[in-house]
This record gives sequence, C-alpha cells and structure tokens, in this order.
Amino acid sequence: MTIQIAPSILAADFAALGEAIRAAERGGADVIHVDVMDGHFVPNITIGVPVVRSLKRAATVPLDVHLMISDPDRFVEAFAEAGAATLTVHAEVLPHLHRTLAFVRSLGCRAGVALNPSTPVVALEEIAENVDQVLVMSVNPGFGGQTFIRRSIPKIRAVRALLDAAGNAAPIEVDGGIDTDTAPQVAAAGAEILVAGSAVFRTPDPAAAVRALRAAAEAGLEAPSR
Ligand code: DX5
Ligand code: ZN
Repeated sequence: MTIQIAPSILAADFAALGEAIRAAERGGADVIHVDVMDGHFVPNITIGVPVVRSLKRAATVPLDVHLMISDPDRFVEAFAEAGAATLTVHAEVLPHLHRTLAFVRSLGCRAGVALNPSTPVVALEEIAENVDQVLVMSVNPGFGGQTFIRRSIPKIRAVRALLDAAGNAAPIEVDGGIDTDTAPQVAAAGAEILVAGSAVFRTPDPAAAVRALRAAAEAGLEAPSR
C-alpha cells in the first residue's frame, strides 16, 4: 500500500493558488485536491471550470477533482476538458451512478465515488467493480477545518472489504479532519489517499506539513494494531 498525500487548496489563499500548489508540490504532494461546490448540494460555493483550467496549467501533479454538486452529469465533460485527472461524484445525487461512472471513464478520467458520513457502504455494492477510487467523507462536506468523524475508521475498513470482495484494488481516499493525529489511524484502516486542507495550508510551512502527514501515515501502516 502506497500512501498518497492530496493537499486540498480549499484552505489556501485563493488569490495565490499557484504559489499554494508549488509549495504543496515542494513537499511531495502526489495530487492536488480541488473542491468544487455549488451552493446546492452543499451550503458553500467555491471553484468552477475556469479555475480548474488555470490550476491545470500551474500544477505538475494530477488534479483530483471532488464534485460536491447536485447535477454532476451536466458538468463532468467540462471538468474533464479543463484537466481533471480524477473526477469524484457523490453517490447521494446520482440515481444512475453506474452510467455516470462509465461516462467519466469514457472521458479519459479516473472515476471516483464519494460517500457522505451518513451514506452506508452498501451504496457501493452494485458498482464496486466500476470505480477507480472511493472517497470516504470523514466530515460533512462543505467546509474545511471541521472535526474528524471517528465512525469513518470502521467505514474505511468496510469499504476496503467490499472492494476486495469485488476484486477491485482501487484506493480509498479519506477527506476531512486529516492531520498528523488522524492520518496514521486512517492509513492503518486502509485509506491510501489522504486529503488535507487545514493541516497543510493553515500552517506556516505547507511543504513541511505535507512531509509530516506522509511520515505520520506511513508510521500508521507499520503500527502493530494493523
Ligand atoms: C470538505 C472538503 C475537503 C476540505 C477538507 O467538504 O471536501 O476537501 O478541504 O478540509 P480539512 O482538511 O481542513 O478538513
Ligand atoms: Zn474534498
């Protein structure tokens, strides 16, 4: 299992996103996590397609785009064209999730599915073979800086078991309240892609913060409790 660190630029200075990305990359960020919110699915509005296009020019690592929007089917093509490498959609808003995932893959993107804290793992059961990544939300989406929901740890284990049973080695991503305290715990449970906003960008040295998160997560993999 290889840990990937995904700094979320939601916590960065939006007037200096290029510098935020460069700092994260200096620290060894594997991907840049981009939080797209529509003020409808979640009570906040953030980034849209033109910003993703600019971020694509600024980043050397792939863009991991998290769509917290009510109607992703209308927008996945535009985000793919703007440069997203991974497009993660929320299971809660998609009655035809299987079709949406196939559409995302047909655009040349990795297809991710996100589950809110209240959404049961069984929501993935029929599409477990069709995902490239599963995002376990460890806070209710909409804002950075929230407290990690501890129930996410057994949920990560349950998602890993479900994917393994389907013969799918797709990585689990975890998003919300990740810091050097929670990182080893989620890694030990089976999360491979760790999103972190505040713990990276609300610090004096984001590059050092990325390194510290990776070290903490890797220590969690070695812990005997696993
Ligand atoms: C929340 C977003 C997260 C957010 C995480 O809705 O999906 O990606 O940026 O922020 P922290 O790491 O501060 O909890
Ligand atoms: Zn996110």
